[in-house]
Amino acid sequence: QKDINILAIESSCDETSAAIIQNGRVLSNHIATQKVHERYGGVVPEMASRAHIQNIVPVVDAAFKDAGLGKKDITAVAFTQAPGLIGSLLVGSCFAKSFAQALNLPLIAVHHMQAHVLAHFIDERPEFPFLCLTVSGGHTQIVLCRDHLDMEVLGETMDDAAGEAFDKVAKMLGLPYPGGPLVDKYAAEGDPLKFKFPMSEQKEYTFSFSGIKTSVLYFLQARRKEDPEFAEKNMKDICASVQYTIIRTLMVKLEKAAKDLGITHVGIAGGVSANSGLRKALRETGERNGWKVYIPKFEYCTDNAAMIGITGYYKYQKGLFTDLSAVPSARAAW
Ligand code: KG4
Ligand code: ZN
Repeated sequence: QKDINILAIESSCDETSAAIIQNGRVLSNHIATQKVHERYGGVVPEMASRAHIQNIVPVVDAAFKDAGLGKKDITAVAFTQAPGLIGSLLVGSCFAKSFAQALNLPLIAVHHMQAHVLAHFIDERPEFPFLCLTVSGGHTQIVLCRDHLDMEVLGETMDDAAGEAFDKVAKMLGLPYPGGPLVDKYAAEGDPLKFKFPMSEQKEYTFSFSGIKTSVLYFLQARRKEDPEFAEKNMKDICASVQYTIIRTLMVKLEKAAKDLGITHVGIAGGVSANSGLRKALRETGERNGWKVYIPKFEYCTDNAAMIGITGYYKYQKGLFTDLSAVPSARAAW
């Protein structure tokens, strides 16, 4: 039987990534992280597009080299169609379409958020129904998965995403972008109960993270009046307290959803699932409830093309192809 080799491209935000997936297994997963945004405290869309243009060909070449395959071995091309920054998405989709056209290959359009969930199926095989908390820089969602491609968003954030809350608090503390991993690092040595921040009270599975951002802002303004170096002196405890509040907010809803629906296979996905506090909280909550929990490897938490490739693989099996007229979309219905 012939191997199914999928070339996958991810370019929705500030990571240019290419992967090659063979029969659902990752042969290579190359990621170029754009450093240019660090000094701006956030992703600058125009610069992201330009960096993708520079990175895309070398990243694809590296993915082929790591996999030990040639262009002629590819069976289909998968790319992130939505959601994301439109200029960034355009680079990856144009590349994927050109590659598919040149080699006369089928093309598969992938939804980035669905791919974050399916990252779980790269190394493991969660059972259905599977409940996934997807937390990234742009999204916070509780997703019910009935099958690989049969997913439903049960609830999401009405304002900021959890990752955005991490990054904005980090910025207020004077930390460079993306601040999430740094907050995680400081939090590991801090006291999570030292400072109290409010947890947002939203109905059902809806989240809100703009409140904590504002409360940290006012808190820092007040304390800095007394001591301009308050943040620097209390960095670990502030980070631990903020992280604790964000994680509690996420876990309360996830636990409620799992209980309401009677689901025992539960995972986390997206960039914030790299957070060590959240990983620990999921394990503990899982133990208390008798869940089987799923936590992706670090490299599959933040944006990567391997997750696009695995999604492409499931779509390939169902014959879910798109034609060369496919256009990317900044916001797409699930
Ligand atoms: O999934 P992702 O790579 O890109 C989006 O689709 O948004 O997620 C990026 C987000 C950023 O907000 C980043 O700060 C956050 O994930 N992040 C973390 C950690 N690692 C990445 N947040 C908290 N703790 C971490 N260890
Ligand atoms: Zn993402």
